[in-house]
Amino acid sequence: MTTPDSDAFGSRFPHRDLLGIAGLSPQEIVFLLDLAEGYVEVSRRAEKKQELLRGRTIINLFFESSTRTRTSFELAAKRLGADVINMSVAWSSIKKGETLIDTAMTLNAMHPDVLIVRHPDSGGVKLLSEKVNCAVINAGDGSHEHPTQALLDALTIRRRRGSIAGLEVAVCGDISHSRVARSNIHLLNTLGARVRVIAPPTLMPSAIDRLGVTPYFDLCAGLKDCDIVMMLRLQNERMQGSYVPSIREYFHFFGLDREKLKNAKPDALVMHPGPMNRGVEIDSELADDIDRSLIREQVEMGVAVRMACLDALTRGLQSNA
Ligand code: NCD
Repeated sequence: MTTPDSDAFGSRFPHRDLLGIAGLSPQEIVFLLDLAEGYVEVSRRAEKKQELLRGRTIINLFFESSTRTRTSFELAAKRLGADVINMSVAWSSIKKGETLIDTAMTLNAMHPDVLIVRHPDSGGVKLLSEKVNCAVINAGDGSHEHPTQALLDALTIRRRRGSIAGLEVAVCGDISHSRVARSNIHLLNTLGARVRVIAPPTLMPSAIDRLGVTPYFDLCAGLKDCDIVMMLRLQNERMQGSYVPSIREYFHFFGLDREKLKNAKPDALVMHPGPMNRGVEIDSELADDIDRSLIREQVEMGVAVRMACLDALTRGLQSNA
């Protein structure tokens, strides 16, 4: 496999952890995307096993439920030859503060090389990373960041459109509670796309324009002439109280269907990080339309991107003594 190089920092990724997209340079993002390209090819072979992470130990520590993120990190680590342990911590057993730190220190004492952590609190993964001396990857912290999701979305777009720069991207739905939205906004802005966010006023953060995006409160107006439409799930688990009058009304005004998609460019592509609620944020038939929907491709790119992140972060590691 060829290894991409970057003039800015050689072939070494200059960070111990991947906690977010905010703060990464365009070169660092492109380095990870280029590295992931090679792993798309590896993942399509019959023989996928690599030796790169042989002897390394990776722990998946999920304090929140997950299907695709946890599975694809596990697959990515195994394809690179690492030993992987999965720890799922039920919601009910989460105690904040000391318990999180204790867990981190306990796991750290077992000398893992990488901890992959999902936590319901924004900032929870960073806090944990400060207590360990291995690499830490944020697999989603509250409504803050989900860096590997943004990277896999960018890889999916780049493979279809050749480049991110200059694209008009609409991110639609529950912007307030979405870490996927935040990471994507940082990444797309860093690589030169123009981003609009579309949501009902109750699901739009008040200071959203500080993130360098244009807010819209009307789906059809926001979709006008855009290249990429990213739909988001209503993150009910992070809501206290009711933010939308009813699911039916939400779909009527903010759910994406073929009719509303006509406002976008004729070849606009549709994305969703999953899990999706068919008939709530997206019409079921549109979600399955392989000419317009990139949803399955996003899942495939997820494994390649996570292989690239594990590769990049472990290049700089010596032993975790
Ligand atoms: C997202 C997440 O967990 O933030 N899902 C994912 O990782 N594929 C989005 C969501 O849960 O809606």
